[in-house]
Amino acid sequence: MSAIEIKRLGPGFAAEVRGAGLADVAQRDDAYAAVRAAFEAHSVLVFHGQKISDELQIAYSKRFGPLEIAKAASRAEGTPFSVLTNIEPDGSLVPPDHKEALRARANQLWHTDSCFKDPPALASVLSARVVATVGGETEFASQRLGWERLPEPRRARLADAYAWHDYAYSRGKISPAMISTRERSTLPPVRWRVRWRNPANGRDSLYIASHTYAIDGMPEGEAQALLAELIEHTTASGHTYLHHWQPGDVLMWDNRCILHRGRPWPDDQPRHVVRTTITATEADGLAAMRPAA
Ligand SMILES: [Fe+2]
Repeated sequence: MSAIEIKRLGPGFAAEVRGAGLADVAQRDDAYAAVRAAFEAHSVLVFHGQKISDELQIAYSKRFGPLEIAKAASRAEGTPFSVLTNIEPDGSLVPPDHKEALRARANQLWHTDSCFKDPPALASVLSARVVATVGGETEFASQRLGWERLPEPRRARLADAYAWHDYAYSRGKISPAMISTRERSTLPPVRWRVRWRNPANGRDSLYIASHTYAIDGMPEGEAQALLAELIEHTTASGHTYLHHWQPGDVLMWDNRCILHRGRPWPDDQPRHVVRTTITATEADGLAAMRPAA
């Protein structure tokens, strides 16, 4: 059995896991413990050369917590998968105005997965099934490091602030037609503290995204300007990690403290990626994110 190695990749976060793959984590407690520790420390994990299957992706993901089940708006409705693809069932590619193409564009806004849900997500696991040969990268930024780079008086002001998240708000930035009445009614806005403290290491993180539209006690225009400024601060040039996908890659990121976005790729290139999403539990620091009753 080879030793597990962690190779740092990004500017202060993101790391490649070597010497253990998804199957090791699914089967061995020691591999899970090492990868869990790496996840808490580095926030984005990269595995290369995985022989991925739906079953393996589920077995790996379930180690970390309960899985989100896809609801409306997904081809994978009722399963633990969120599929992002431009490939039709007959093998042809979707036209640029297709709902899947709009989803890909919305995915290019800086966001964290499922902050608009209750409970929100601990982590996402994304496996490459078909990769574009040009573009289609995923870019990451650390809201933990963004928080730590803020001046102390600003952190003090934000630590006890609460912000509102709404899937319809971010989708409305792309196309008002992107969200159905059914999706709107199943995903009402939710409110979370602006700072998420990781109970494994005590490190704080900003917790906002393109889904975030309001902050309690602040005029809406002022809040939206502040949110945009904070996202710009966190994702500034030199502070991101850009992942170029290769076949066999699987990535996992911590939605409590990572912003990510998809990058565009040519319309005539197929791309198919499959996500599983792990739900945050109280052990992940969720209780302190809720407003006091
Ligand atoms: Fe995402």
